[in-house]
Amino acid sequence: MTDQATTPTPDTDETPVAAPTPADAPTPIRATPGVLEGEEPSVEALERDWQRDGGEVPSEEPLADPAHGIVEGEALLRVSGLKKHFPVYGGLLRRQVATVYAVDGVDFEVRKGDVFSLVGESGCGKTTLGRTVLRLVEPTAGTVHFGALDVTRLKSSELRRLRSKMQIVFQDPFGSLNPRMPVSDIIGEGLIAQGLTDRKARDRRVGDALEAVGLRRDYTRRYPHEFSGGQRQRIGVARALALEPDFIVLDEPVSALDVSIQSQVLNLLLDLRKDFDLTYLFISHNLSVIEYVSDRVGVMYLGQIVELASSEELYRSPRHPYTLALLSAIPDPDPRRRHKRLVLKGDVPSPVNPPAGCHFHTRCWLREQLGNPEQCVSAEPDLRELMPGHKAKCHFAEQVSGAKAAEFAAEHSTVVPAVVDA
Ligand SMILES: Nc1ncnc2c1ncn2[C@@H]1O[C@H](COP(=O)(O)OP(=O)(O)OP(=O)(O)O)[C@@H](O)[C@H]1O
Ligand code: SF4
Ligand SMILES: [Mg+2]
Repeated sequence: MTDQATTPTPDTDETPVAAPTPADAPTPIRATPGVLEGEEPSVEALERDWQRDGGEVPSEEPLADPAHGIVEGEALLRVSGLKKHFPVYGGLLRRQVATVYAVDGVDFEVRKGDVFSLVGESGCGKTTLGRTVLRLVEPTAGTVHFGALDVTRLKSSELRRLRSKMQIVFQDPFGSLNPRMPVSDIIGEGLIAQGLTDRKARDRRVGDALEAVGLRRDYTRRYPHEFSGGQRQRIGVARALALEPDFIVLDEPVSALDVSIQSQVLNLLLDLRKDFDLTYLFISHNLSVIEYVSDRVGVMYLGQIVELASSEELYRSPRHPYTLALLSAIPDPDPRRRHKRLVLKGDVPSPVNPPAGCHFHTRCWLREQLGNPEQCVSAEPDLRELMPGHKAKCHFAEQVSGAKAAEFAAEHSTVVPAVVDA
């Protein structure tokens, strides 16, 4: 991981808007806004309410720490053969007419203390994978082990008790905070759901969490609309942190923020990881952000991981033609340098009907360069280990090289100069 993290200046992103008068102050409510009985809650409602589980206060004892005894560098999370298929209903009788193969057989491990990142184009299944790991959506197949616990087999009451250990920060700092709740309730409701009913103790935990993310303790009575995007995302992080988790899924935590605020929030997350002994599953489509924060990276394409390596190795020596194409799209910071880009043919195929054999074969530049070998269409490649810790899902991964990609780009791709040469 790049060692550039600096301690963020607390609360620098912006000043909160003036507090509302009592007349405009929205009334805190407990029900999910906009959801009628019997209706399926929206994703936004799920995001807002996921910690609370209907507001029940559990009577059970907290779950024994499943991460107990796992030391830095050992696997904290093990995902095996994980699938999430969504049925698509249609016709007058609302029968299932198709299946979205959103996550389709994924294996990886996250070591304690690491930032493991998932990267890939929009729709490749990153969010679904992150949510399935937490069982925010139910898996179709496969297992997720958190320490010694098989998360996929837990009953809902056990799962609720595990939630303090496995948290999530959502992409949208606007949609994921209930606009009708003050910050104290937004952060505090997860604590209530974990059985912390003592008001004073809860307020202390809320204040500590706010301070940890660089916000003032006395912001607790304010509402989400009084904060900027960066501050709202800090509140989202504080909500996760207040529960003292071991593991956090960060789903595009900075992509909705201004570029100027992004690095502050990224540095904050990296600092918190050290300070609170956290392990992250970090999701982003931005390869520069991924390079900055990650220890290990999984590259996703159509619901599968096609390359898995340490961040350093992946950026230095990518072994899947798709990864090379993604990397070639990173803009060069030097505007005087002309930049050749591997342009992939066509759009990402639909996850309803993924191509046979290697899912990437319809867009693969290497296959074209190798004279369209039949094997790419007739047989699905395995995610093979090419060297310790580096895997790629390509029959011809040994032939992937920067030189080959440059040769192909020179013949087929457009030159994308940031400025026209004088
Ligand atoms: N509840 C659902 N029902 C049906 N299909 C779904 C559902 N949720 C996601 N999908 C589909 O699953 C696929 C993967 O979606 P997902 O949101 O996980 O992708 P992503 O990689 O996170 O994309 P983005 O970068 O745009 O956030 C997409 O084709 C999406 O339309
Ligand atoms: S198996 Fe064939 S189509 Fe798939 S990535 Fe490798 S070369 Fe390309
Ligand atoms: Mg997503």
